[in-house]
Amino acid sequence: MSADSAWVAIAKEGEIDNDAMKAVTVGDKRLLLVNAGGRLYLVDEMCTHEDYSLALGCIKDKRIKCSLHGSYFDLETGTALDEPASDPIGTYPVKIESGQIWARAD
Ligand code: FES
Repeated sequence: MSADSAWVAIAKEGEIDNDAMKAVTVGDKRLLLVNAGGRLYLVDEMCTHEDYSLALGCIKDKRIKCSLHGSYFDLETGTALDEPASDPIGTYPVKIESGQIWARAD
């Protein structure tokens, strides 16, 4: 399999509004495509604290907040920035090409 074949189209370019997100599945992973201040990020959907969907949270600057207990995660690195979560969420590459947003989660 070539490296390029792992990219999967997950949305249309411009589909995700500023400070909005979309839940997507890539392979067997449930992920969130996030537009934070005009920049796209792809991260794990579920909070590492109690397996709660971050899609129910909110975006602030380059962070996403879990709405259950309030932990913030850095969208760039996945780092849990405050308690009670301590483990990072996964982050994945994303690119825009041919009018589509592409992801890879291998
Ligand atoms: S479930 Fe996300 S901080 Fe507790």
